[in-house]
Amino acid sequence: MNTAMNESLMTEVKDRPAYSPGLEGVIAGESALCLVDEGEQGLLYRGYSIRDLAEHSTFEEVAHLLLFGHLPTQKELREFSAQLVESAHLPSLLDEFLGAVPSSSHPMDIVRTGVSLLGIADPDAADNSHEANVRTSVRLLAQIPLMIAAAYRHMNGTPPVRPQEDLTFAENLLYLLTDRRGGDQAKAMARVLDVSLTLYAEHEFNASTFAARVTASTMTDLYSAMTSAIGTLKGPLHGGANEAVAEMFLDISNSERAEAWVREALAKKQRIMGFGHRVLKKGDARSAIIQQHAESLSRDCGDRRWYEIATAVDHVMQQEKGLYPNLDFYTAVAYLLMGIPRALYTPVFVCSRITGWCAHVIEQQDHNRLMRPRALYMGPPRREYVPLDRRI
Ligand SMILES: CC(C)(COP(=O)(O)OP(=O)(O)OC[C@H]1O[C@@H](n2cnc3c(N)ncnc32)[C@H](O)[C@@H]1OP(=O)(O)O)[C@@H](O)C(=O)NCCC(=O)NCCS
Repeated sequence: MNTAMNESLMTEVKDRPAYSPGLEGVIAGESALCLVDEGEQGLLYRGYSIRDLAEHSTFEEVAHLLLFGHLPTQKELREFSAQLVESAHLPSLLDEFLGAVPSSSHPMDIVRTGVSLLGIADPDAADNSHEANVRTSVRLLAQIPLMIAAAYRHMNGTPPVRPQEDLTFAENLLYLLTDRRGGDQAKAMARVLDVSLTLYAEHEFNASTFAARVTASTMTDLYSAMTSAIGTLKGPLHGGANEAVAEMFLDISNSERAEAWVREALAKKQRIMGFGHRVLKKGDARSAIIQQHAESLSRDCGDRRWYEIATAVDHVMQQEKGLYPNLDFYTAVAYLLMGIPRALYTPVFVCSRITGWCAHVIEQQDHNRLMRPRALYMGPPRREYVPLDRRI
């Protein structure tokens, strides 16, 4: 590289903000949706503590908070629930698609493509005004559980079921995915599922939300942003971890084998799914909440096997690696007890996180600035071009 060019590049690099691999610690935008704090405040959705929301509110209230900006009154909640019931149907284009997917497909691929098709079927998809984005978000919240259940039932040859108007969002989701409804045990399961949906709903600039916001910042449609987000969530380092945790529990199969299993995996330098977090290095407040519910559900179901395996793995990981469980870890215990098919764990995450993603897209497009960062160039310096016939 000639000296003048080298110097000008170096100055450009020096004047730029510090480079951080994986954008670790970088503030990439403003948001009023969620505060992730490892200290006193814990995790807040629009100012409300996640502990209060998980203990006292339903997932529908949390979805309303994220999409409309405030916790609903009783009347608003009734109207919102009625809107969800009214929107719970799929366009015929989706029926055709779901009827044609190969049974080997991963449900996350189906949801990603299905949401993209919903955009094609929606004549108002291009309207990204605040009001239209909120309307689309509510429809997506109602439609995604149907899509997941229809696809899974089609692939497994089980008869389709319709959501029930007298059930809550979590009760319906449990029913659609497992046929369970009514009775004390199904009620206890739906309550824990509801808590897990609340905990999964929003988490600031995680990879999938950031992907959604980057996409939205081009002022494209909300469906395109959701397609980006779903594809990003699928990865095992992100949303795919909950399914991987359940696979690990099944492989361990007995709490007495847990310690040796983990030590062997660590000796092979394997990552233990459900541990660690890019931001939360001192533990994940959501994990403590879902752990309590996973334990009480284990008692209610008279089946402590998964919980005992989980606590044994947790103990070794804290001792050996100083790593704490994240939300996906004890959630897998609860979902195993509920009998949710494992391939649907990450799609269940989508059923909840769609609210956070949509709220971020709305926020981004209400105050948009195109996201266009820079790269630190690491390639060769300028080279002389050699025509094809002279290259050796
Ligand atoms: C979430 C995750 C990607 C965050 O990673 P990160 O902040 O980039 O942390 P790093 O990848 O820099 O890891 C730091 C160290 O901890 C180790 N580590 C991190 N997570 C680990 C895990 N789950 N199991 C074993 N070791 C782990 C790394 O191997 C590394 O060790 P080293 O310094 O000896 O090489 C990572 O913890 C992980 O892969 N977890 C498992 C997947 C998961 O549960 N994802 C859901 C996230 S909510």
